[in-house]
Amino acid sequence: MDYSAIPSPCYVLDERAFRKNLALIKSVQERAGVQIILAFKAFALWSVFPIVREYISCSTASSLAESRLAFEEMGSPAHTYSPAYTDDEFPEIMKYSSHITFNSISQFKKFYQQAKEKNISCGLRINPEFSDVETDLYNPCAPGSRLGVTAGLLGDTLPEGVEGLHFHTLCESSSYDLEKTLNVVEEKFGKYFSQIKWLNMGGGHLMTRGDYDTEHLIKLLQSFRSRYPHLHVILEPGSAFAWQTGVLVSTVLDIVENKGINTAMLNVSFACHMPDCLEMPYKPSIVGAKEPEAGKPTYRMGGNSCLSGDYYGSWSFDTALQPGDRIVFEDMIHYTMVKTTMFNGVTHPSIGIWTKEDKFLLLRKFSYEDYKNRMS
Ligand SMILES: Cc1ncc(COP(=O)(O)O)c(C=O)c1O
Repeated sequence: MDYSAIPSPCYVLDERAFRKNLALIKSVQERAGVQIILAFKAFALWSVFPIVREYISCSTASSLAESRLAFEEMGSPAHTYSPAYTDDEFPEIMKYSSHITFNSISQFKKFYQQAKEKNISCGLRINPEFSDVETDLYNPCAPGSRLGVTAGLLGDTLPEGVEGLHFHTLCESSSYDLEKTLNVVEEKFGKYFSQIKWLNMGGGHLMTRGDYDTEHLIKLLQSFRSRYPHLHVILEPGSAFAWQTGVLVSTVLDIVENKGINTAMLNVSFACHMPDCLEMPYKPSIVGAKEPEAGKPTYRMGGNSCLSGDYYGSWSFDTALQPGDRIVFEDMIHYTMVKTTMFNGVTHPSIGIWTKEDKFLLLRKFSYEDYKNRMS
């Protein structure tokens, strides 16, 4: 990517890297004999759905808006799961969904009749009460979790009409984590497998990360399918689709100093434009920067919102930063783009794509109206 050809600030999707991920996911789908669908919660850049559709045809939605996006922009009805459906939204969600998964038995009972009349395949989210995810914010199986039905709440048979089970317990996980989860799921819920048609293994399968053992994943899924040949197996990763597929290009506006700490003030905000850095938290990589090194120019990166904690750091550079320098944050596509806010009204980064023909294409520039229209 030629960063100087890109306006700042801007999220830029790298088409080549994106296609590489899509091709890998498609090959896992074909070799393992499962269906892999895109989780919009991690990636919903609809102007590139035509590219997605060259590889993967379906998506999973977690709200009315996402299910409508699936129907209108992906061109296929969604596999929808929401923690709780409302009376007024459910009829419209049904219009856009082929599968609907319920988070509790009471929600299933409340809406099943309506879904049955529309020939929608209904599922229940189960909670195997086992997950390797260490951060509680991202652990759906933490004690007291509100997500999914635990084994103790189910009888010998599933409620009539349940055609599928869904579990989501992983987050940026390996196939070995899935293996451990599957063992627990089989142990606790295997007795229901003869009563269902499909099993959705949720997201968190980071199969496009360099060290992910895709061969092991494929063997694991093939072996599972040979034990339950009647089951249609679905995986719904999000991050894996957009992992390492683009950057957030920003610019240094000013350098401020306080008690020996130098902060490069940027035209982007961690709070607004890279929220996971503060929430997770994690330190993003910056092109050309390294871990702090004595004797090298070293800076915090400061966001342009008024939140005191809107900074992260530190990074060292070979030469001192100057106003006007570009700061390029790596891997800023999955979750980052969908979770942004317009807090403080700070200028929202544009969205662009670096095409496979090595050209920059601007997809969207935000304006005052976008900020204003979020409120009234
Ligand atoms: C139910 C469900 N499915 C799929 C996903 C996608 O997970 P990931 O982006 O980690 O692959 C999530 C993420 O939170 C989820 O909650």
